Amino acid sequence: MNARETLKINEKGHLEIGGADCVELAKAFGTPLYAFDEAYIRRMMRVYRDTLRDKYGENGLVLYASKAFSCKAIYRIADEENIGVDVVSGGELYTALQAGFPAEKIYMHGNNKLDYEIGEALDCKIGCIVADAYSEIDKIDAEAKKRGIKQKILLRINPGVEAHTHAFVQTATTDSKFGFSIQDGTAEKATVYALSKKNVVLDGYHCHIGSQIFEKQSFVIAVEKCLDFAAKMKERLDFVTETLNLGGGYGIWYTDEDRKISPEGYAEYLEALITAVKEKSQEKGLKLPYLLIEPGRSIVGEAGITLYTVGAIKEIPDVKTYVAVDGGMFDNPRYALYQSKYTPVLANRASEERTEIVSIAGKCCESGDLIAVNVSLPKAKSGDILAVLSTGAYNYSMAMNYNRNKIPPCVLVNDGKAEYIVRPQTYQDLTRNDVIPKRLLKK
Ligand code: LLP
Repeated sequence: MNARETLKINEKGHLEIGGADCVELAKAFGTPLYAFDEAYIRRMMRVYRDTLRDKYGENGLVLYASKAFSCKAIYRIADEENIGVDVVSGGELYTALQAGFPAEKIYMHGNNKLDYEIGEALDCKIGCIVADAYSEIDKIDAEAKKRGIKQKILLRINPGVEAHTHAFVQTATTDSKFGFSIQDGTAEKATVYALSKKNVVLDGYHCHIGSQIFEKQSFVIAVEKCLDFAAKMKERLDFVTETLNLGGGYGIWYTDEDRKISPEGYAEYLEALITAVKEKSQEKGLKLPYLLIEPGRSIVGEAGITLYTVGAIKEIPDVKTYVAVDGGMFDNPRYALYQSKYTPVLANRASEERTEIVSIAGKCCESGDLIAVNVSLPKAKSGDILAVLSTGAYNYSMAMNYNRNKIPPCVLVNDGKAEYIVRPQTYQDLTRNDVIPKRLLKK
């Protein structure tokens, strides 16, 4: 295993996260369990916040993309670290507000915001809504009018940069449900449309080119395309882009096929963006925009692990060994969705040699319910504690109750001590909203 700073192997040969022994965590809180290292999360938030301030002055804000991991405590941490957040649903907005997060530092995204979500956003006096369709511009305008306010908006534009983890290609055509395309002229039309509305204030543009991207050049090309477009809008419509939101997407380490970037190393991504923004703005004679970035995965992804208990082990001679755990796709659907790769570690035997190639299976009634395929481990036995690394992003937030399994709780580790930030679900939680019509009641 690689010595990740948030993870260590202690003298007992146990894996530790944030100074807490994972075997003890499993004992105290049970498994499956998501555990997060608070120090790592704060360090990541600070790296982005301080780099932006040092290289770009006070003319910008880091937004934590809370779809990566949303619960009340994470909004408190973001607030304490003086950054903003983005939300993509009424539910995320509600959670942030319940945590006391200041509405003016919340940006709302989504490709199909519902009427009531727009209403809720306006009612709380949200900082900004990122509009993604003509109908949304109409709705925001109408709802703002009803309330006698003018709502600040950005337009989500699609710069036609398609980015992959190991390569990037620029697409000439646009095939995405997100954003107004620059290439086919809809971004300009949407600008004209938004400017014609009396109750919205168009403040600039937003783009997000994808997720789990390592190539800085992909982000730089997106900046250039957005600012070329901004220059065109200034020339043609006399519209000044006050704000530019460049989205998130910086890649993290899941396995040794990925790059390992230290928290401080992520500053380079932001620095590359800032350099591109400055150079392009100067070239085009644009004033420097208020700059926003929206990292999600890179803030919480490597900060989190999932702990499981090993149960059944099925050896199929000459074929495969399945090591089944007490979780699965209901707490981590990413293999089922994207064939994502993960690094598992036997937390109670973390320094033992990896002698076997196995696949980690979940407990759902579904063959595709796997967590990791063909990974190396010491010979696992029932009762071992298995840790899966880098599960802090898009695991809890995508968890579900398939097979009526309970979504595991989350603990936050601070200085070696763990506390719940999301309590365990109960069977009562699972049946809370069930209704038996009278005619079906047991007589
Ligand atoms: N901003 C916008 C507008 C986004 O759509 C996203 C992610 C982000 C920021 C944050 O990107 P990040 O820094 O986390 O890469 N469920 C998928 C990931 C979906 C990402 C969607 N948008 C997964 O599990 O990999």
